[in-house]
Amino acid sequence: MSGTSLDGIDAVLARFDANGHPTILSRASVSFTPSLKEELLALNTSGHDELARAAKASNTLVDLYAQAVEQALTQASLAREEVMAIGAHGQTVRHCPQDGYTLQLNAPARLAELTGINVIADFRSRDVAAGGQGAPLVPMFHAGVFATSHTRVVLNLGGIANITILRPQAEPLGFDTGPANALMDLWCQLHTGDPYDANGLWGAGGTIDQGLLDLLLQGEPWFASPPPKSTGRDLFNQAWLEHRLKQCNIGIPDHARRAQDVQATLRSLTAQTIANAIRTYAHDAREVFVCGGGVRNEALMADLRDLLGYAVEPTDKLGIGTQDVEALAFAWLAWAHQQRMAVSRPAVTGARGNRILGACWPA
Ligand SMILES: Nc1ncnc2c1ncn2[C@@H]1O[C@H](COP(=O)(O)OP(=O)(O)O)[C@@H](O)[C@H]1O
Ligand SMILES: [Mg+2]
Repeated sequence: MSGTSLDGIDAVLARFDANGHPTILSRASVSFTPSLKEELLALNTSGHDELARAAKASNTLVDLYAQAVEQALTQASLAREEVMAIGAHGQTVRHCPQDGYTLQLNAPARLAELTGINVIADFRSRDVAAGGQGAPLVPMFHAGVFATSHTRVVLNLGGIANITILRPQAEPLGFDTGPANALMDLWCQLHTGDPYDANGLWGAGGTIDQGLLDLLLQGEPWFASPPPKSTGRDLFNQAWLEHRLKQCNIGIPDHARRAQDVQATLRSLTAQTIANAIRTYAHDAREVFVCGGGVRNEALMADLRDLLGYAVEPTDKLGIGTQDVEALAFAWLAWAHQQRMAVSRPAVTGARGNRILGACWPA
């Protein structure tokens, strides 16, 4: 799995029982090089010779996927012949389901060639072809591993935030709520040179700019639009932020203190949009379990607890590490593909019907 944060790859090697219940055997992470990160970010918008550049970046990406696979195999002392499949999401560079497409850079044939293992990839396109958002794909997995006897919310804090609402004896619901780390990372990189605000400390030194926060919240109709919905860097990008900062007469770069205030405000935007979505669509929830790198932003976690007024805890408490949940979800999606299980749900993605997701590149 490599998500919109563009930080790198998280992999897990897992065994699934007949009901799809997982046991994690090993895990691996491989960071993107700064040049790959820069190129993948650049490929999120139109540019010179982008077809050839996308193909080359896909190959580079998959070489790193293969490294992650080798690390996970070595750690678990498992032979490749024992592995049924690799689930490889690819790197999203466009997500425009409203226009009938979503695009993940990937090179599954190359990954099969490099690893000698079946590769299942291209998980989103079938759902989009059926009129759906193609996202989020994880709610059925969350239901399988996290559902319980009361209403529970699972929140993923990657580049974008998505929630799953789990109720007993009901189909899961789920949708994106807006940016999680994407805008905070971008702003932090611009002003400090660091790829993210470690533990949220830099932003915690700033003061929320209420005028800017109101503008960010109310000036974007996407936030109040009802699910099914999904989003990405197509909407929440530097141009989106700069346009709004300009309306508040905040330039880039600005003096240091002001930059920290903007960071605090972006953190609050993330927290508010998540809390609003949970209060609106999961009013009966009394606990939220959180995964993804944003868990480590302590100020963001504190904001969420303040806004919701109940337990907001890392998924470690339910037995799956915060960095493993998304990777495990794509392993599970590969397992589900092999079972010919339809895991996209109209209630989540808005597609015409349940669909089997992914395609297989045999070893
Ligand atoms: N120590 C930390 N403090 C604050 N934020 C962190 C920390 N470690 C990771 N993150 C955030 O988590 C992001 C990566 O999260 P991840 O779950 O991998 O997202 P994605 O699925 O989009 O790649 C980083 O870009 C950063 O914003
Ligand atoms: Mg990541």
